[in-house]
Amino acid sequence: MRKSLLWITILIISISMVTVFSLAGCKGEEAAEEEAAEEEAAEEMALSGQLEIFSWWTAGGEGEGKEALFEIYREKYPDVEIIDATVAGGAGMNAQAVLATRMSAGDPPDTFQVHAGHELIDTYGVADLLEPVNFIFEEEGWFDFYPDDMISILSSGDDILSVPVNIHRSNVLWYNKAVFEANSITVPTTFDEFFAAADTLQAAGITPLALGDTGIWTAVHVFENVLLGTLGPADYIGLFDGSVAWDSAKVKDAIQTFVDMLDYVNSDHSALAWDEAAQYVIDGTAAMTIMGDWAEGFFKSKGLTPDVEFGYEPAPGTSGSFMALSDTFCLPKNVKDRENTIAWLKICGSKEGQDAFNPLKGSIPARTDPDLSLYDVYLQGAIADFGSNSITPSIAHGAAVSQTWSQAINDIMTLLVSDKDVEAAAVAFQAAADENL
Ligand code: GAL
Repeated sequence: MRKSLLWITILIISISMVTVFSLAGCKGEEAAEEEAAEEEAAEEMALSGQLEIFSWWTAGGEGEGKEALFEIYREKYPDVEIIDATVAGGAGMNAQAVLATRMSAGDPPDTFQVHAGHELIDTYGVADLLEPVNFIFEEEGWFDFYPDDMISILSSGDDILSVPVNIHRSNVLWYNKAVFEANSITVPTTFDEFFAAADTLQAAGITPLALGDTGIWTAVHVFENVLLGTLGPADYIGLFDGSVAWDSAKVKDAIQTFVDMLDYVNSDHSALAWDEAAQYVIDGTAAMTIMGDWAEGFFKSKGLTPDVEFGYEPAPGTSGSFMALSDTFCLPKNVKDRENTIAWLKICGSKEGQDAFNPLKGSIPARTDPDLSLYDVYLQGAIADFGSNSITPSIAHGAAVSQTWSQAINDIMTLLVSDKDVEAAAVAFQAAADENL
């Protein structure tokens, strides 16, 4: 009896001590947290001056996404004036030339949009133009929220050179649901089904496939999807390490299929931009367009709802693959407003920033901890597919090839769209690979 009383007394004393210590611990933690929050608030208030953010986000969806990031920045740093330096033109077709001139004149913007992968590393990493941002990843605890594969496409050796804000999917066929229903068409998942649907639509006086290749990248965009759909993910990836030839029979097959598709596009394609082509799908003058999921942001910015007015499907033959690219922002060396830029990059890479930006942009977060409830049905599907599909890098958006190689591909494409010479294109693609591999 005495013994058990003694144990009970010891137990009670221990519990109270634990409680006292943990309460003290809590108080200590609370005080530390409060102090950190105060410090952060003081830092936020302390920033002033300007911040020049260079991008090509001017269209519907991408413009709204960018504004959402600006909004967060302005709230945190009311004394910093954001200079929104945009050069219109999808995929950076005009912005990249302006940027190159500024960089070589030693006049970098405080930060600029750049695609993860070869565009980032081969153009800016190799030339040593960027300050590594490893310290931001460490300070913000981001190593727990960014997968190694993501870090590796941002890095040159051990140096992380940019902060990702999203992941886009390029291999999506978008379609007008009412037009499909009115013409009793089911969504094509193979090239045969695509051409059958295209014939039906054309006979009904509707443009089957909307294209706006005033910037030739959109034709390359469709072509990279046809390549993937024809070769499959493993051989597609082989195109970039020399194990699959660009003048092989299967690539010629893909070029032919692409050329055949051109018979079904709008006659004014060379006068339009990607978003003007997407508008044709909204208007119902065209039924489909093959575009990255920034088109989802565009459709939503025009008041449309996924699965209601517009549908989506992996581009023909590409189900099970996720053609990926990522928009990032970097810290050029010797910028005018380094601290303001670091504050911007912290927002770009944060959960708060990505969950505000991506639902509007039509992209998925590069982080692993999104609040899924903020993402619509299309984006939730894309997040799931990204986790389970074969990931392949986009050619048209800087992931798979350097800017020099990409320029060569664009030039070949400009010729191909007008002369439709499959053999000549295959030879030229192989020559470009030989020069750049
Ligand atoms: C891509 C970019 C996207 C989107 C698109 C059209 O290259 O990664 O974010 O903006 O161009 O402008």
